[in-house]
Amino acid sequence: MSLHDQHIAIVDRAADYADFDGLRILVPSEVYHPHEWSSTRFLLDVLPDVRDLDVLEIGGGSGALALAIKRRGARKVVATDLSEKACAAMECNALLNGREIDVRQGDMFGPVREEECFDLVIFNLPLMDKPILNRAEVALCDPDGELLTRFLRGLPEIVRPGGMALFTHASISAPLPSPSAEPLGAPGRISPVAESRRESGEIFRVCSWRHECAHWL
Ligand SMILES: C[S@@+](CC[C@H](N)C(=O)[O-])C[C@H]1O[C@@H](n2cnc3c(N)ncnc32)[C@H](O)[C@@H]1O
Repeated sequence: MSLHDQHIAIVDRAADYADFDGLRILVPSEVYHPHEWSSTRFLLDVLPDVRDLDVLEIGGGSGALALAIKRRGARKVVATDLSEKACAAMECNALLNGREIDVRQGDMFGPVREEECFDLVIFNLPLMDKPILNRAEVALCDPDGELLTRFLRGLPEIVRPGGMALFTHASISAPLPSPSAEPLGAPGRISPVAESRRESGEIFRVCSWRHECAHWL
């Protein structure tokens, strides 16, 4: 069974609970599951010190990462998702775990308010470069890297100078734009933070994008 089929089997099942970084997380069907070998756990392992930071998570899914970030001492955590079901799960998991996060439904940076900026922006992207065939695949597929490109393009407006973004990328994703190409010509740099090769052969990465202060001084 391919990695994608395994993910689909997990995402497309009945509701379930996950234990995640000391949190109890309800995961409804069609919402990305932060299971042991998920990209959620991979991102969690490379999180920087988030104490006193303002953090935005795009595509929060079950809210596992957003809640872990709040639990680790972030000042403010805004978590968005396109999916109504994911936003309901985030609200529910915030209550279940007694943590306050600001959940907003919408597309990419749409729910971010005018002039709102963050120290850290996170997106565990849908990683597979293939058409979306059903609702479960909204959490898994990014045809032609459209989301990836829009995400990178929007970062300079949303990340404070000196701040950073962390996002996932994989060998099954559309390629990253080259460093000299738009949108990376905007102030900031992309570099790999961690990489893991799965048994199935796919390579997963967490990449950082840094908003370089020098450009703004
Ligand atoms: C791989 S899942 C990650 C979920 C969660 N952050 C985690 O790590 O467990 C990707 C998430 O992105 C959301 N998503 C997909 N397209 C989106 C968009 N255009 N705007 C906001 N969220 C989106 C999906 O609904 C899904 O919850």
